[in-house]
Amino acid sequence: MKKITETTQNKVNKAEKKTKFYNDNVFLSIKNLHVWFELRKWGFRHAGYVRAVDGVTFDLRKDETIAIVGESGCGKTSLMRTILRLNRPTKGEVVFEGTVINDLKAKGIKDYRSQVGYVQQDPYGAMPPFMNVQTILEEPLKINGVKDPAERVQRVIKVLEEVKMSPATEFLPKFPHQLSGGQQQRIVIARAMIMNPKLLVADEPVSMLDASVRVEILKLLRGLQKDHNLGVIYITHDLSTVRYFSERIFVMYAAQMIEKGNVDQIIKNPKHPYTFALLEGTSDPDANNASIQKEVPPGEPPSLVNPPEGCRFHPRCPKIIKGLCDSQMPPEFEPEAGHFVSCWLYK
Ligand SMILES: Nc1ncnc2c1ncn2[C@@H]1O[C@H](COP(=O)(O)OP(=O)(O)O)[C@@H](O)[C@H]1O
Ligand code: SF4
Ligand SMILES: [Mg+2]
Repeated sequence: MKKITETTQNKVNKAEKKTKFYNDNVFLSIKNLHVWFELRKWGFRHAGYVRAVDGVTFDLRKDETIAIVGESGCGKTSLMRTILRLNRPTKGEVVFEGTVINDLKAKGIKDYRSQVGYVQQDPYGAMPPFMNVQTILEEPLKINGVKDPAERVQRVIKVLEEVKMSPATEFLPKFPHQLSGGQQQRIVIARAMIMNPKLLVADEPVSMLDASVRVEILKLLRGLQKDHNLGVIYITHDLSTVRYFSERIFVMYAAQMIEKGNVDQIIKNPKHPYTFALLEGTSDPDANNASIQKEVPPGEPPSLVNPPEGCRFHPRCPKIIKGLCDSQMPPEFEPEAGHFVSCWLYK
């Protein structure tokens, strides 16, 4: 009897330790996040909401890369901009190292942003065309109080070398239009890295680049993640690039996360019919094939103003359970440890 009690206690202790380890390692928590944009008719009359993010929950652990995958228009950028505090959440919380960032005031937002680097989809659009590389990269340092010009230049040169723009001094006087697309994206990455952030958010960082430079840019991001122990959120509509880039994959559909798991769980053992269809359209998960147009399930993603009742994928789903999927939204099930799916097939 005594033995059984001890074993049970050991198990409880172990479970508590595991939970504590996990909690200690979470540094970004997204809790039931909603981002709705108000629609106005003729510019003033309320005409509904675009529910761009509609109840998203996930954690990011220290030094972890996650990929968020989903079709265009499913809310990826809105989610990222809210994490960066460029949008305000309508409901829910973004918690970074224990601080709720929804409530931050101007100074707090500035400090927070210096810890989070942002790599946008369109590198040219992300840079002021009238500033040269040196000015673009010095700007965040000035904003964050690095007063010594010599120190600023030194840090600019160091970060340029890190993004493999060398010799760095040659690039300092160049303007964005004098650089190739790949070089422009390297400058955007350098700007995101210059404050030594803890988290890097990369929103479709290679989708506007030539296929030939995509792999190089992804390798660069992966290298920076490892060298600096960064947390990375990599956003993409293209599953073929995520396998060698991230530890976990989260699949988004119509403003919600519908499946989450580690790379092998999602790639080798997808559960949600939407993920399954996305993967079927990805003939080869090698990033070299990233330029091939991927098929998505037939039909259109739903309107985010009036999303379908029940499961939002039901109008396109080959496995629909009539009378259930079309009326009740599936909760999150965990068919295997750490693998979550919002689909009635796993109830
Ligand atoms: N500022 C905004 N005002 C109104 N609607 C917006 C705004 N930003 C995004 N949306 C809408 O939110 C939805 C999700 O867009 P977005 O987050 O850009 O998706 P993704 O990045 O996955 O393509 C789209 O319907 C888009 O039109
Ligand atoms: S809940 Fe139903 S409609 Fe939605 S993906 Fe699962 S089976 Fe298909
Ligand atoms: Mg986007």
